Formats: sequence, C-alpha cells, structure tokens
Amino acid sequence: MDPTEFWEQHYEKATSESSGRPTAVLEKFVTDRTSGAALELGCGKGDDAVWLAKNGWAVTAIDISATAMGYARANAVRNGVLEKITFDQRDLMTDFPTGSFALVTAQFLESPVVFARNSIINRASRLVAPGGLLLATSHGSVPSGSWEKPDKCYPKPKEALENLSLDLREWTQICVDNLERFAKGPNGEEGMVIDTVIALERKG
Ligand SMILES: C[S@@+](CC[C@H](N)C(=O)[O-])C[C@H]1O[C@@H](n2cnc3c(N)ncnc32)[C@H](O)[C@@H]1O
Repeated sequence: MDPTEFWEQHYEKATSESSGRPTAVLEKFVTDRTSGAALELGCGKGDDAVWLAKNGWAVTAIDISATAMGYARANAVRNGVLEKITFDQRDLMTDFPTGSFALVTAQFLESPVVFARNSIINRASRLVAPGGLLLATSHGSVPSGSWEKPDKCYPKPKEALENLSLDLREWTQICVDNLERFAKGPNGEEGMVIDTVIALERKG
C-alpha cells in the first residue's frame, strides 16, 4: 500500500485526541539540554513538537500525513506555540529536509508499509550540529496499543545502533539501551513496555 494512503487512513480513523504528554524518552534526554533548533521526524499528533516548543525549541515537525499535521497544528494552537513550530508535510522516503539542528528526534518512526527507517535516520543524523543530539526510539516490545497481537523479535539496542550504519567515531554514546516504561492499553489494561533508545551526541 502507498505510505501516504496508509497513514492518511490511519489518522482519518483516529480522532485528534492525544495524550498531551511528550514521549518519555524525549522528556528524559532533552529536559536538561540547551534549547535550539529541533527537527522531529514523524510528529504524528504533535505532542512532542508542542512540548519542545513550550521548552524553548524552534521546531520543524515533519509527517507524511496531512490529517496528522492538521491535528498537530490544532494541538500547537491550543497550547499557544504555533509560531514556534514549522509544520512540514513530506514523505521522508522521497523528499528530505535540509538544515542544521541541535536536536534530531525520531520517536517510534516506524511503519508497517514500505519504509527505510534506518537509512532515513542515518540521513537525518547528518543534520545534527556539533554538540547536538540524535535521539531515535523504537519499540523493544509489542506496543501497548497492540497487546492483543503476538509479540515478535525486536533488535537489541546494539543491533539497532549497528542497523543505522553510522560512523561511531563521530558520536558520543549517551544511551544505547532498552528502557522499561509503564503503559496503559486501549482498554485500560496496564503493563510494562520496552523502548529501545539510541541517544548519540555529535562530537564537536
Ligand atoms: C508510529 S507513528 C509515531 C508518531 C509519533 N512520533 C509518536 O510517537 O506518537 C509514525 C509516524 O511516522 C509518520 N510517517 C510514516 N512514514 C512516513 C514517511 N515516509 N515520511 C514522513 N512521515 C512518515 C506517520 O504518519 C506517523 O505519524
């Protein structure tokens, strides 16, 4: 299926409602950093972009879905940070941004349709300024929204890092690990999930 069509249908079936909270990993690794320009890949409904903007970052938020962008923009308006976020609808498989950023974040930038996640994150890593952070999180266990589905194998953190094919001499490894997080499923069920976190700082 065409990725634009897939994600449009996904967000059209959803509502604009979101948790209103940033992803746990973003909050953990970015709270103490000096704000600057941030690039978010796959912003979805915009909670991370809004949190970054509220914390002083000038955000470029990218997503393939026009509907998601609409939800994210409304989220930014509700939170009074619209002027701090540039919403940029594009397909990262075919159309890549340029610039230099103190933070490049990709939280659960994953897709069940054809998607070269690792090469997209590798490419985005080149936009991280010296001293800046590359923060890429993926599911390390079945996500809470899909607990009814069987679990599968997920790459271990070291393997997830290797899959990005980065020149590791250029980076300080802040975190390459599986972090546990408490989560609630769609029917209120509770449990732990694993986030596979790659947090790298570009050497100056
Ligand atoms: C699993 S969702 C994660 C959304 C958000 N980061 C979060 O943590 O809730 C993946 C997001 O990536 C976006 N996406 C998927 N393929 C894309 C592509 N080729 N170019 C840009 N965005 C894409 C989707 O529209 C979706 O919003």
